[in-house]
Amino acid sequence: MTAKLIDGKAIAKRLRTDVAERVRMLVEGGGPQPGLAVVLVGDDPASQIYVATKIKQTHSVGMASYEYRLPAAIGESELLHLLDRLNHDDTVHGILVQLPLPPHIDVAAVLEKIDPCKDVDGFNPLNVGRLAVGGQGLVPCTPLGCMMLLKTVHADLAGMDAVMVGGSNIVGRPMARLLLAEEATVTVAHLRTRDVQGLCRSADIIVVAAGSPGLIRGSWVKPGATVIDVGINRLPSYEGKAALLVGDVAFNEVVQVAGAITPVPGGVGPMTIAFLLSNTFQASKISFQQKT
Ligand code: GUN
Repeated sequence: MTAKLIDGKAIAKRLRTDVAERVRMLVEGGGPQPGLAVVLVGDDPASQIYVATKIKQTHSVGMASYEYRLPAAIGESELLHLLDRLNHDDTVHGILVQLPLPPHIDVAAVLEKIDPCKDVDGFNPLNVGRLAVGGQGLVPCTPLGCMMLLKTVHADLAGMDAVMVGGSNIVGRPMARLLLAEEATVTVAHLRTRDVQGLCRSADIIVVAAGSPGLIRGSWVKPGATVIDVGINRLPSYEGKAALLVGDVAFNEVVQVAGAITPVPGGVGPMTIAFLLSNTFQASKISFQQKT
């Protein structure tokens, strides 16, 4: 048996088309052109690629994009000052500070500075708290993307056993909260978890965001389970072959056991950016409604 491939690329494209249509209707109805400010500090190569893709796709759905590339040595207070300015700029509806930041900058202070209404990453503690208690707020993009992919396989997640491998603030924790909100039974596994393999083997759903190439082996997966791979690992080029992008799942093994699986690339990655656009649209629409 081979697993059904969950085509994130196609699903993300449909979502982007939908966002573009909603942007068009908002502007035709007298609303603002949604604007997203992207802040990149330093010259991390992977971050540069992500930011360039985010900017290109922002334009493709009819939104404005404002780009701030700052040197790695920038002081924290200067960055906070820029965020203050963007918070008060009416043409900016969404603000994204690409992570990771250089070690001399306090990430928590930066995320707290972003106006929660413009926090399209959903990383400000107010939005984190709203998600935790089931309130209305902006929700992190990658977990939203994972949920949409999961829903193409399981319309109802209630009572399913889900394991989230990885407990980061960007993916693992918010993903666990979304799964719990859908009434799945959720376990978060992390570096100190004693038997990740055993937990995975009994799960109906495995979501992995561990940053560890090929961590989830075929023998770890219950036959028929759904596996969502958030990992994006760049393996270095060797013997003249181009650098390879691989996930946290040993795809060739797991595809023979799982019921459904996301590929890397073309699975979760495109969904993250599509939801960034969707969140930016949501932020601009709410801001417009509050003003009228
Ligand atoms: N770095 C890795 N993933 C993300 C993300 O979703 N948002 C931001 N801002 N930085 C990231």
